Amino acid sequence: MKTAVRYFSRTGNTKLAAEAIARGAGCAAVPVTDEHAALTEPVDVLFVGGALYAYGLDRRLKEWIAALDGRLVGRAVVFSTSWISRHSVDLIKVALAARGISVETDYFYAKNRPDENKQKDAEAFGRRYGA
Ligand SMILES: Cc1cc2nc3c(=O)[nH]c(=O)nc-3n(C[C@H](O)[C@H](O)[C@H](O)COP(=O)(O)O)c2cc1C
Repeated sequence: MKTAVRYFSRTGNTKLAAEAIARGAGCAAVPVTDEHAALTEPVDVLFVGGALYAYGLDRRLKEWIAALDGRLVGRAVVFSTSWISRHSVDLIKVALAARGISVETDYFYAKNRPDENKQKDAEAFGRRYGA
């Protein structure tokens, strides 16, 4: 199965989750700000992660999703971190669905920085949906 992980992280929390999910899924975790972040070939599963900032998503994640060619994505799976609200999960899901992408209901979530146990959960999540 071909998988990809894309994320945006300001302070490193979502990055830790992204890297653990990517370990489980057997692919690289690529920030949306990376010059190679654009999808250039079809993937079966695309993991997309971001955090909540002032009850919204970072502009860079929104712009990356808005530019995404939905035809390249078999299914998207969302992950997120935040202090308290899981609204970011819904915002990412809605943005992906607007690109015509089918989005898995289940998602991975961590409160702020995922500790070692939570990173293991993230890795298992990556294996479950990506490997
Ligand atoms: C400027 C800023 C605004 C935030 N606003 C919210 C918020 O509205 N609701 C919430 O639950 N967490 C909020 N948080 C907490 C972050 O979502 C949380 O720390 C997250 O894990 C940060 O992810 P990152 O390290 O990948 O950037 C905010 C954090 C920052 C720095």
